Amino acid sequence: MTPHRPWWQTEIVYQIYPRSFQDSNGDGIGDLPGIISRLDHLQDLGIGAIWLSPIYPSPMYDFGYDVSNYTDIGPEFGTMNDFKTLLAEAHRRNIRIILDLILNHTSHQHPWFKEASSSKDNPKRNWYIWHNGKPGASSKPPNNWQAAFGGRAWEWDAHTEQFYLHTFLKEQPDVNWRNFELQQAMWDVIHFWLDLGVDGFRLDVVNWFIKDRHFRDSPCRRWGLRPYDWQQHLYDRNQPETLEIMKQIRAIVDEYPHRMTVGEVYTEPPGDPELVATYYADGKGLYMAFNFAFLFCPWQAAAFAEAVDRWDALLGSNLWPNYTLSNHDQPRAFSRYARGHDSLARARVAAALLLTLRGTPFVYYGEEIGMRNGRIPRNRLQDPLGKRYWPFHSGRDGERTPMQWDNSVHAGFSQAEPWLPVNNDYPSVNVAAQQQESDSLLNWYRALIQLRQNEPALHSGSYQRWWVKDNVFCFERQLNDDRIMIALNFAPKERNIPLPQDVTWQTLLSTQVAKHHTLATNETHLPGYEVLIAKALSKGLNHVDPST
Ligand code: GLC
Repeated sequence: MTPHRPWWQTEIVYQIYPRSFQDSNGDGIGDLPGIISRLDHLQDLGIGAIWLSPIYPSPMYDFGYDVSNYTDIGPEFGTMNDFKTLLAEAHRRNIRIILDLILNHTSHQHPWFKEASSSKDNPKRNWYIWHNGKPGASSKPPNNWQAAFGGRAWEWDAHTEQFYLHTFLKEQPDVNWRNFELQQAMWDVIHFWLDLGVDGFRLDVVNWFIKDRHFRDSPCRRWGLRPYDWQQHLYDRNQPETLEIMKQIRAIVDEYPHRMTVGEVYTEPPGDPELVATYYADGKGLYMAFNFAFLFCPWQAAAFAEAVDRWDALLGSNLWPNYTLSNHDQPRAFSRYARGHDSLARARVAAALLLTLRGTPFVYYGEEIGMRNGRIPRNRLQDPLGKRYWPFHSGRDGERTPMQWDNSVHAGFSQAEPWLPVNNDYPSVNVAAQQQESDSLLNWYRALIQLRQNEPALHSGSYQRWWVKDNVFCFERQLNDDRIMIALNFAPKERNIPLPQDVTWQTLLSTQVAKHHTLATNETHLPGYEVLIAKALSKGLNHVDPST
């Protein structure tokens, strides 16, 4: 019997960065009607949910991660009616919608902050985190905390003569999660969208919600590009009370059938899965917390295998893992792993890994066609992080360039000059071209997704590592009597892999070996960068003669 699993465990989630997906009104910025017009592509690909990066009204200092109204749609993205249409059209295609909720901070233009900063005795004053300067030196911030996007985490408000806290830009004041009324206002936001029918939330930087009551200084630890990296973040994030907030959010979302959350628990690269796992709160907190391990894995079978084993072991059989190769904050996987003529073959191996593991795969828009990180000239930089740290860090614009639909002007993304330049490989790297080529990366993603859906062992089975050897990662997924073996050759050279004796394996999907159909020997030859996915045939049953 196939265990009944909720959709967020069996489906594939596709992340859309709305500014860059499809423009419908010729302003160079992607929008909701644009997304609606591209739903067929997503349905064809076989994904089961879309995570939309923020679409709320925002002054766009951090491109939507600075929200000025939680319960409306930003005019550049469309209207509430457009959103309702998107929800209905997506649902009609069995695609769920996950909204990005940014609850650690608002925009400084949010009416709550405007009120809070209007006077010290405004009823909403404590919805944010205000503090006097250092005793005896009132013009100095109360402690040494740094902002993740540069500079001090405290901004002086001349009008009310106090500092307010901002973990990111000064235009993103942190809310005070210790305030009961603020909490209630956030619960209302969550109810608003759930009542409207959204299927879940991606929760931004959840581990920052609660700060130390005593605002103790962060100890220094090491050198890094940003002063933020020099500090040990003992007091400005991961406070134990945060888990209580996670549980409260869970309780609300649980009231609605078939909904979910996935939280971003920010940890320094290469990540801290032990810490991330705590945010599941043993099944009472986040439904899933992102595991970003793959974003920082070098191109080595052993590195990926270790990341998977660690995550799988940490979560055990009761909590549900997830994997992701790229997102809007990190350079795209295609570019990270690019190596000349091998780049495409590597992208196929990475996709096969992502889509055959136990855990929900998150696919970043454009990954399915092998979009690279764009090179953004300095005068076109948009991301505040890039503007501040260029040329040491060029920011996140490179992974946010417009989706490449076809070889027409601006890659079919917009009639107007797009807000970020289109990658110049778009005449050959685009959806329309790859739809035509049977062995394109797009069709490889499709085939993998289809296979994952057709084989319950792949979406719901257990995971077991067989071995990692000579840069080949081999593992098994099993559900009842179904056994599926996945062998991924990360090396450019051929390898021989041992297979268990007495089992006949039938190829389900592969990049090259497929022609052989059955693999009956106890050793199989894997060409360079080969992906081999094969199913164990029951002895004596369905035996396929290798000569046929
Ligand atoms: C998260 C988002 C990132 C944003 C930041 C501040 O890390 O993924 O894009 O800039 O939070 O909201």
